[in-house]
Amino acid sequence: MDKQHVVTLSDEHKMPLVGFGTYKITDQETMDQAIGTAYNTGYRLFDTAQFYNNEQVLGMALQHNGINREQVFITDKVAEPNQGYELTRSSVDFSLQQLNTDYIDLLLIHWPVNTLFFDTWRAFEDLKQAGKVRSIGVSNYNRAQLELLKTQAHEMPVVNQIENHPYLSQAPLVEFDHTEEIATQAWSPLGRGVVLSNPMLQTIANHHQRSVAQIILRWHIQRGIAVIPKSATASRIQENYQIFDFELSTDEMDMIDLLNKNQRTGNDPEMVYELGKQY
Ligand SMILES: NC(=O)c1ccc[n+]([C@@H]2O[C@H](COP(=O)([O-])OP(=O)(O)OC[C@H]3O[C@@H](n4cnc5c(N)ncnc54)[C@H](OP(=O)(O)O)[C@@H]3O)[C@@H](O)[C@H]2O)c1
Repeated sequence: MDKQHVVTLSDEHKMPLVGFGTYKITDQETMDQAIGTAYNTGYRLFDTAQFYNNEQVLGMALQHNGINREQVFITDKVAEPNQGYELTRSSVDFSLQQLNTDYIDLLLIHWPVNTLFFDTWRAFEDLKQAGKVRSIGVSNYNRAQLELLKTQAHEMPVVNQIENHPYLSQAPLVEFDHTEEIATQAWSPLGRGVVLSNPMLQTIANHHQRSVAQIILRWHIQRGIAVIPKSATASRIQENYQIFDFELSTDEMDMIDLLNKNQRTGNDPEMVYELGKQY
């Protein structure tokens, strides 16, 4: 693993700063090509979820590309219908089979839901104790939910994976994660494409002779946020990793910060928490 571009989590495990998102890649050929390109480019983190229906396809793609399990960091997420103590444990056993591995590097609760809130986390702590999972974390948790979890957790999540891009920068939550030693990882770091046409970002991109996607990803990592951009396009997969050889100025960082308008591209976590499912 490239030692320069990793985050040391509060449990001492190391996580690549830039990972590869796999949501919506479900056919084997596309996954094989995407994973091959990503690995050759330098990506070592691959992000999947029970909900994506592609764990098996990802596991096969690693094999098809001759990639050793120890060379990569796999993130997986437990889906809402699999929450609860017993179901979490049995669903993770199934995920391990699907991925064809005996451990997951980072397991996340995909969305907080108000029922079985503590039972699911207890299963996570036990899965870690059992060695089936190296690090445990959450996704889409807000400050109140992290504080609630803290009232009963024996150990706290080391990662909070949240929607994050220039139109939804979530500065207070990122700051809270930081004070709690929880690494923030951005999902939809490019806002699923929505942010790419912003004229001000285009001006900054022209100045650096970079693409808008590279400017956004660089903004994330200069804020101390890990990213998992997804692309099924070889040139974009490569482009999204070429962000370590230039720097944004403080003024440019401030200008991008000002683009925030609390605009989500995905579900609102507070609604999922109440409903108990994605909508
Ligand atoms: N924890 C959660 O609840 C959660 C929720 C959503 C996503 N995620 C994870 O986060 C990952 C990333 O999020 P995402 O897939 O929603 O959105 P994203 O990475 O922000 O954007 C992906 C979209 O942008 C396009 N794209 C990628 N790189 C580009 C570039 N350099 N130039 C122009 N367009 C580019 C892709 O197109 P092509 O593929 O056609 O190139 C795709 O349509 C997911 O794959 C998944 O692993 C987690």
